[in-house]
Amino acid sequence: MTAALSSTAQAGDFPNSFLWGAATSSFQIEGATQADGRGESIWDRFCRQPGAISDGSNGDIACEHFQRLEQDLDLIASLGVNCYRFSIAWPRVQPLGQGAWNAAGLGFYERLVDGLLQRGIKPVATLYHWDLPQALQDQGGWAMRDTVHHFVDYARHVQKHLGDRLYALSTHNEPWCAATLGHETGVHAPGLRNRALAAQVSHHLLLSHGLAVQAMRADGGCKSLGIVLNMGPSMPATAHPADIAAARLYDARFRRWYSDPVMRGQYPAEILAELGADAPTIHDGDLQAIAVPIDHMGINYYSRQVVSASGAHWNARAEGLPVSDMDWEIYPEGLTDILCQMHADYPNLPPLYITENGGAFPDQAMQNGVVQDLDRLDYLQTHIAAVAEARRRGVRVDGYMVWSLMDNFEWAFGYSKRFGIVHVDYATQVRTPKASALWYRDFLRQWRQR
Ligand code: NOJ
Repeated sequence: MTAALSSTAQAGDFPNSFLWGAATSSFQIEGATQADGRGESIWDRFCRQPGAISDGSNGDIACEHFQRLEQDLDLIASLGVNCYRFSIAWPRVQPLGQGAWNAAGLGFYERLVDGLLQRGIKPVATLYHWDLPQALQDQGGWAMRDTVHHFVDYARHVQKHLGDRLYALSTHNEPWCAATLGHETGVHAPGLRNRALAAQVSHHLLLSHGLAVQAMRADGGCKSLGIVLNMGPSMPATAHPADIAAARLYDARFRRWYSDPVMRGQYPAEILAELGADAPTIHDGDLQAIAVPIDHMGINYYSRQVVSASGAHWNARAEGLPVSDMDWEIYPEGLTDILCQMHADYPNLPPLYITENGGAFPDQAMQNGVVQDLDRLDYLQTHIAAVAEARRRGVRVDGYMVWSLMDNFEWAFGYSKRFGIVHVDYATQVRTPKASALWYRDFLRQWRQR
């Protein structure tokens, strides 16, 4: 199962056409939550619930990316990446999630996209990275089928104005998180705790993906339409058959619940059975719509899951295994494994991009004002090598994007977890590339010159 791989990434392992980038999302970096007519999002509201965000923070200022766009474009270009992944905030473009459009809000993304193109960088966008307009949540949010149709309108509007300038456009980012963390465990906005609701939300997210891709393709514009899913291998804690079965079930819940309908037009039967009366209402034709062919799939990988029949997941720290500041085990082989697994599971798999991969680390060691994040540097090197290994094994992976360009608002953890390859001093908003960013820049230079 575990891949034997050389831990050092070699620039020569990747073709000229490979996409190299860094990734962010709107709510995590933009700030300016009231600027230019932006509407309220569910994350603005959620952050105000006492105890929701561990450091009591919110996204009002974040990295001030909205005001510092030009400077950040230069920063992105200075890394030598050839693509940049970002998300579009629906409440900027359509403050209430239906009805009136806000041209000033869309204007921000036009400036961003044009600024990238001027610098020779391909824009890779996501339509929904969790910041639903609060006005739609007030009507039931993703639990309501109407929200699906509002999302399709929003997707068409964005594509109409930006589509031909975007290299790739994904509908959703990590629908598992939006559904489960937002509606079952309640640790993300909108903070609800109801399994049946979460299942219905997951179905509506997927349906909105399928219908939006169908509509955008009919309209024409962006040549590569897809979706971004989070995944990692689910491994049994022991060779005991009960643990093996538990790991399989976990994989079906976490990964195949999303990838099966998108690639095959069906939900895993074992999860429908497990949900029982909590299973979502599915209309005739929904699954066909969800399985609309896509041009790319984004995969976000951070770690593996170790699963046992008792339900307890392996506590990597207790086992003495290397973990990041999120307590997620650092397991690069898992990236090769999950890519090979996807390749084996779906003969019709489109080209893959690693749309997120990276690590939070405490970032304490400084030298001449530069964070010596050798742990993050090593994380990136070994995971890029894991991508090269998957490619050698025949998986078509066409791009790799680091999470994240810069330190930012890590959802329920606020600003306490730093994922950036660029350090952000939140008191001054000064950006300083860390050692990992300098390594990435040099690696990309070698790749260009090889
Ligand atoms: C996945 C999410 O897409 C992103 O928003 C988040 O910051 C990273 N994982 C790290 O948790």
